Amino acid sequence: MSPNHILVFLSSILIVSWADVCPCERPELCQQIRDQKDFEVFVFDVGGKTWRSYNWSVVTTVAAFGKYDAELMCHAHSQGARVVLKGDVPLAYVVDQSNRTGWITEKVNLAKSQFMDGINIDVEQAADQGSAEYFALTHLVKETTQAFHKEIPGSQVSFDVAWSPKCIDNRCYDYVNIAESCDLVFVMSYDEQSQILGDCIAMANAPQAQTLKGYDEYLEMNIDPKKLVMGVPWYGYDYPCLNFSQDGVCYIASVPFRGAPCSDAAGKQKAYSWMMKRVDASLSGRLWDDKQQAPYFNYEDPQGQIHQVWYDDPESICLKSSYVQWKGLRGVGMWNANILDYSDHPVAKQQSAKMWNALFGC
Ligand SMILES: *[C@@H]1O[C@H](CO)[C@@H](O)[C@H](O)[C@H]1NC(C)=O
Ligand SMILES: *[C@@H]1O[C@H](CO)[C@@H](O)[C@H](O)[C@H]1NC(C)=O
Ligand SMILES: *[C@@H]1O[C@H](CO)[C@@H](O)[C@H](O)[C@H]1NC(C)=O
Repeated sequence: MSPNHILVFLSSILIVSWADVCPCERPELCQQIRDQKDFEVFVFDVGGKTWRSYNWSVVTTVAAFGKYDAELMCHAHSQGARVVLKGDVPLAYVVDQSNRTGWITEKVNLAKSQFMDGINIDVEQAADQGSAEYFALTHLVKETTQAFHKEIPGSQVSFDVAWSPKCIDNRCYDYVNIAESCDLVFVMSYDEQSQILGDCIAMANAPQAQTLKGYDEYLEMNIDPKKLVMGVPWYGYDYPCLNFSQDGVCYIASVPFRGAPCSDAAGKQKAYSWMMKRVDASLSGRLWDDKQQAPYFNYEDPQGQIHQVWYDDPESICLKSSYVQWKGLRGVGMWNANILDYSDHPVAKQQSAKMWNALFGC
């Protein structure tokens, strides 16, 4: 070989290793999903292997918030479901146009190299209406959508919004233009006690009336119902009670959040599987709050402190998800899909199946 030939030979090796090799058993499973489904079941996955137990006959999109898992991508594609990246960036950084373009290019290239089907933008930062960050965010969503649609045909760009458009947690975004600029918005109908303005007491993570009011507010802004995916919680909050009134009200520590004196940060987030292991042996057993349309229970910890636990179960979830069909929303989803008990125990299997089914109303 002449030195020239060696050079050509070496560079061809480099090109082969640079090219993205499909990790799936069948190369066609690396092709991105192109068809649009009428109804979205939008699933957040936070890592691990419990995705193997999802009800894949209903899943349409998996937002992969854990480590990249090629096996998950291959499996989702074999089921006709999309897998999308997580996108988050400091808003102050993307005020600058070239920084924004750089970020978008990086995400498109990452999605291509990992054979992903889009991106879920999860920016939960505060932004004042009319600020530089406010406009930057809208541009970010618009430009990300344009770039993904161009570079990965059929890809999906979604954006996560709070349970209400009314500046929740000081997120005063341009919701109308954001919704218009992407394929769908995932409404995070949970953490609804992030800013408690009344009594500092334990309450439901996603009270029914408050949850549905949030959707009414989005729809009143003339956001297309086909852009809205209802996000329901598969977790709840365990609150230690400072004191516990005769009628079962649990007063919680004051933990301020973004201008509010109290918040759900006084409690600890717990998975539905955790709830199910404790509710039967609790002081109260499962109780139901008629006003908030949510289950809860009280228990005593080893130090003798009373806790009140608020959560969602198939009964409270289906009451909310019924609204999806009623208003013709784009679909439904949850934070997050990993946290059910997917073990082989018959009781656990039944509980998990009921949680998946509750996504489709009562
Ligand atoms: C743009 O990004 C650079 C780093 O790449 C950073 O130093 C700079 O502050 C950013 N511009 C703005 C306006 O934030
Ligand atoms: C419980 O504590 C809160 C806050 O310290 C107080 O406002 C409330 O009156 C107390 N309630 C009872 C029943 O002790
Ligand atoms: C998966 O969902 C479908 C549609 O709701 C349902 O018919 C089926 O029973 C579910 N599968 C399991 C294992 O629960």
